[in-house]
Amino acid sequence: MPEDGIKSNCCLSQTEVDQFNSEGYLIFDGFFDKNLNQLLKEDVDQLMTNRANKEETNLMVFPSLGSLTSEPIIVDRVADLMGTTFTHHHIHARWQGKGEPGVSWHHDYEQMPQTNRSHLMVHVFIYLDGLNGEIGDLLVLPGSHQRIMARDAYRQFMHEDLPGSVTIDNLSPGSFVIVHSALQHARRPKPGGETFRRYFIDTSYCQHGILWPAGRRLWHLNQMALDLGWDRNGKYKFLYDNSCFFDPHDYVEKFNTCNQGSLAVHLMEGINSHNEEIKA
Ligand SMILES: [Fe+2]
Repeated sequence: MPEDGIKSNCCLSQTEVDQFNSEGYLIFDGFFDKNLNQLLKEDVDQLMTNRANKEETNLMVFPSLGSLTSEPIIVDRVADLMGTTFTHHHIHARWQGKGEPGVSWHHDYEQMPQTNRSHLMVHVFIYLDGLNGEIGDLLVLPGSHQRIMARDAYRQFMHEDLPGSVTIDNLSPGSFVIVHSALQHARRPKPGGETFRRYFIDTSYCQHGILWPAGRRLWHLNQMALDLGWDRNGKYKFLYDNSCFFDPHDYVEKFNTCNQGSLAVHLMEGINSHNEEIKA
């Protein structure tokens, strides 16, 4: 990457970047090769067994799941959307079986409070065995990432279709969907799953340039990723740079006491008093 941190597209066409910016998501159907897909499934299976047995559940130490956080097939595409460097925020993994409940409409953009979309955060939804209309469909509301709203603004609609929403229920094994984290999405519960398991992993990345909310546990995991070599000989070291995070727990109580009226007034008061201090 050049010194200014700005890079040109390596994997995505400008049409894809434009589509992401307007719709808020991009689908990559069947992009993982069989070997990578199989190794990831084995890690998820082991993780689920460990959870049941109360054994190791830290995803970073699983060889395929940990290194997935810097998987070039994904992060080189995310880099094209970011246009600059970015930090890994989290990874979750599990498989979902028969009777899995749904998840109501929500978005996952980390901001406190929700006021703007100046910087990009993405989630990558990975479906190791694809989607086939069983257990749960992915619903997205294209363009909703451009509106500023609370994460649960559409929760009352549960997992019903919304005007303009899209149902994604047919993906090949080894597929992933990159979504703008502010995109409204849901999981609609579906019957089935007697034999099919809905393997699901999500990873997330935050664009550099601002501070993002992330609990200290996540900082610890990024340090662990460096220690384990998931930065691939330094090429992806930027992914585990915790300097773009703040721990929201340090701010919640104080913020709640001053979160009254228009925050722009508080912000300008702070800037003005800062400028007075500099003059004095
Ligand atoms: Fe979500």
